[in-house]
Amino acid sequence: MKIDIISVVPALLDSPFAHSIMKRARDKGLLEVNCINLRDHTTYARAQVDDYAFGGGAGMVMMIEPLVNAIESLQKDTFYDEIIFLTPDGEPFNQQTANQLSLKKNLLLICGHYKGVDQRLRDHFITREISIGDYVLSGGELAAAVLVDAIGRLLPGVLNDETSALTDSFQDNLLAPPVYTRPVEFRTWKVPDILLSGNHAKIEQWRHEQAIQRTEERRPDILGRE
Ligand code: 6GU
Repeated sequence: MKIDIISVVPALLDSPFAHSIMKRARDKGLLEVNCINLRDHTTYARAQVDDYAFGGGAGMVMMIEPLVNAIESLQKDTFYDEIIFLTPDGEPFNQQTANQLSLKKNLLLICGHYKGVDQRLRDHFITREISIGDYVLSGGELAAAVLVDAIGRLLPGVLNDETSALTDSFQDNLLAPPVYTRPVEFRTWKVPDILLSGNHAKIEQWRHEQAIQRTEERRPDILGRE
């Protein structure tokens, strides 16, 4: 899978994909991530990419022209399954969306900045608009990093057995159960006996009960979701 990211601050994306599981995915050739500097595509003086909003009001607006230049230059080489604009007024990102997007071949992510982008870009180029939560970030880069990570780790071959996505929180609309490792006892706090019993059927039953209990307590809104 290939994910291209258009940004005005590409340096923000240097580290998120350079370590751990994302690094492994790229080293194995399962995930390709390219960051494109929007300022390389502007025709305006001093690499300008934003301007005042028509009608007035605070905040700059990203101009359509540099963005279309960047998009169309990338489209010469790549057909994108989705052109995604990262914006706090987009659809809320969740595991289901990550699963869907992980089945695509080529994605283009566009990081919003300032007071947003000229609406005509959204009307004519963007195929999907995504938010990562109900708060405002200073730009879409951190949100893009979140998408790439959530999607990348789902690609076949990226995770091994120990890190399998199948038992993740949210994958079956349940939060993950509590986990323990050595030592068996620390400052009088013991690991639940059931986990040391060797009875795998009972352990799985316990984990399932714990997952349901945790979800009821913490996230009743996701229980029984489709
Ligand atoms: Cl995708 N972008 C920005 N700027 N802020 C956000 C967001 C995206 N998602 C939540 N807050």
